[in-house]
Amino acid sequence: MRSPFIIVAIDGGAASGKSSSARALSDRFHLLHADTGSYFRALTAHLLLKKVPVDDPAGVRRVLPEIKLTTHVSGHSARIEIDGRLTGEEIRSKEVNAAVSHFAAIPELRALLVQYERGQAEAARSHGFNGLVMDGRDIGTIIFPNADFRFFLHADPAERARRRAREGQTDAVAERDRLDSSRQTAPLACPQGAVSIDSTLLTLAEVVAIMTTAIEEGIAALR
Ligand code: CDP
Repeated sequence: MRSPFIIVAIDGGAASGKSSSARALSDRFHLLHADTGSYFRALTAHLLLKKVPVDDPAGVRRVLPEIKLTTHVSGHSARIEIDGRLTGEEIRSKEVNAAVSHFAAIPELRALLVQYERGQAEAARSHGFNGLVMDGRDIGTIIFPNADFRFFLHADPAERARRRAREGQTDAVAERDRLDSSRQTAPLACPQGAVSIDSTLLTLAEVVAIMTTAIEEGIAALR
């Protein structure tokens, strides 16, 4: 029997395991994966390249209308292109880590990505996927509040800092969480009705197993 088209929203704080679990689900259920953190990071890298300081929202508003966003589907992944160009590892630099939550608090920048991110559902359909799995901070609250499946991941901040250090990154995990949770527009929050998972003591495989069971049961109920 053909699977219904599903939208899976995964939200959570810095280094809580959102993207890794989303990638695993995209393989398991043949879903297009949209890592929205990478979109905010790509825009941040672009703004830094254009020499826009993090404390200059007027400068950001000046640059935004010139930016053209498109999507490149590569395997299961929906990658952002800015002015026709894909971004690379520079989006994980310590400069981007330090700047991204400041730019992400600017409403006009978020508005640009809201439209873009909602459009990924159509990209998933037109590329023949069974659905879309999107991870970020506001997916189940703002982007797709009616997503078929909503998950919220959290973990002890010390454990999350260790995960980043193991990846060789300099990242103020707790500081980004503070900024992301306290901003006016689309703050990080657990979406209504989301399955909340504390991943502090769980392996990635255990987190993915919890999500997989919830999705399989949900799909069976949708049929
Ligand atoms: O590195 P990590 O997975 O923790 O974060 P990320 O998902 O790459 O997101 C980087 C930053 O982008 C976050 O700290 C937020 O400031 C911002 N972001 C956001 O505001 N809304 C989203 N939906 C996704 C990311």
